[in-house]
Amino acid sequence: MHYFDYKNGELYAENVNLKQIAAQVGTPFYCYSAATFRRHIKMFQQSFADRDALICYAMKANSNQAILTLIAKLGAGVDVVSGGEMLRAVKAGFAPDKIVYSGVAKTHAEIEYGLKIGIHCFNAESEPELERINQIAAKMGVIAPVSVRVNPDVDAGGHEKIMTGKAENKFGIPWKKIDGVYELIAGLKNLQVVGIDLHIGSQITDLKPFAEAFERVGSLVKGLRKAGHKIAHVDFGGGLGVPYKNDNDIPPHPDEYAAMINKVAGDLGVKYIFEPGRMIAANAGILVGKVEYVKHGDGRDFLISDVGMNDLIRPTLYDAYHDILPLIEPQDGFETQLVDVVGPVCETGDYTAKGRDLPVFEAGDLFAIMSAGAYGAVQAGTYNTRALIPEILVDDDKFAVVRKRVEVEDIIGLDSVPDWI
Ligand code: LLP
Repeated sequence: MHYFDYKNGELYAENVNLKQIAAQVGTPFYCYSAATFRRHIKMFQQSFADRDALICYAMKANSNQAILTLIAKLGAGVDVVSGGEMLRAVKAGFAPDKIVYSGVAKTHAEIEYGLKIGIHCFNAESEPELERINQIAAKMGVIAPVSVRVNPDVDAGGHEKIMTGKAENKFGIPWKKIDGVYELIAGLKNLQVVGIDLHIGSQITDLKPFAEAFERVGSLVKGLRKAGHKIAHVDFGGGLGVPYKNDNDIPPHPDEYAAMINKVAGDLGVKYIFEPGRMIAANAGILVGKVEYVKHGDGRDFLISDVGMNDLIRPTLYDAYHDILPLIEPQDGFETQLVDVVGPVCETGDYTAKGRDLPVFEAGDLFAIMSAGAYGAVQAGTYNTRALIPEILVDDDKFAVVRKRVEVEDIIGLDSVPDWI
């Protein structure tokens, strides 16, 4: 559910006409709905209201400071995967003990920073990482709270590039080796076990792989406790999918997800931690663009727009589907046209939709690429020396530019030419 709807024939973000934002900031731009973000966080919190549970929003999905500040104010925690994201979390006002730190390649400086601010825990991904954390903690004279990420070897389905829980993926420690790893931790003086974690993939719309993986973790927890390890929390990761298309792949409601978790882990007596990203952000954002040209090719029509793969890479990288809506609502019985919606970047892979039946567009028409709030702006770049596009946040009838456009002049200004050229 989101708050982007037609009113009097024009597309609005909450109570702001998107046409008005376009006139002020120019296209393309990302636009977020504060009410939708709030709704999603509260919905997730509500599903686990009767449990000791902490929602740690996976900021990799959308790490704009305005969004993070809004989420921190709702009492949520945050999942970070770099020193940069940790800094964002601190600046947005997340309490350090609500920060969990995931990622396979934590550097010396990043670990030091995490220990300095006192994060809730490091989700460790390998034995050498645990040894490094121990060494740094010893040098700083502190005890590092750690959890071990289990690789449960479960096929979560979905796109292979975002699957993380199979044995062949780089993530986590094989579940068969977990007992030994907790023994290793027990022998490292500056580490303290606080939990266990996993994350099996993203855009998962079926509860089965989750249940399979969580059952595996449940039995690991029981075994680890018998061996004397204190497992205070289970971090179930993120991964719950969203409806990108209206008519298929409907993901389970967080309440159904919660019921499944209570069934497989309800009797463990652990605190629950979750790291949802997409489920919070995807439908809370859109990308507004403009048709520059309509080109009639050989057996194919192209809507050539100002949205490039550098602005939204998901269709190119993951064959992702995003609905496209005109800013002016089509009237009853409107005509459609089969088109590829492509961008200005000089690559064949530069498209946002292929073979899509859309209402007839003309040059100059504006459109919204829906469900672009997660993994949109954060994965944008400046390929072809294109400006980094702005981000706008709407809250009821107000809107603000929450990241200004990074202009081409600024991008070029980052380069320097040595005087010996
Ligand atoms: N926790 C960990 C350790 C993760 O690696 C991820 C996502 C999440 C939580 C959040 O997962 P979510 O709830 O958003 O599914 N760029 C890709 C998605 C990459 C997901 C990476 N990890 C896309 O646009 O589909």
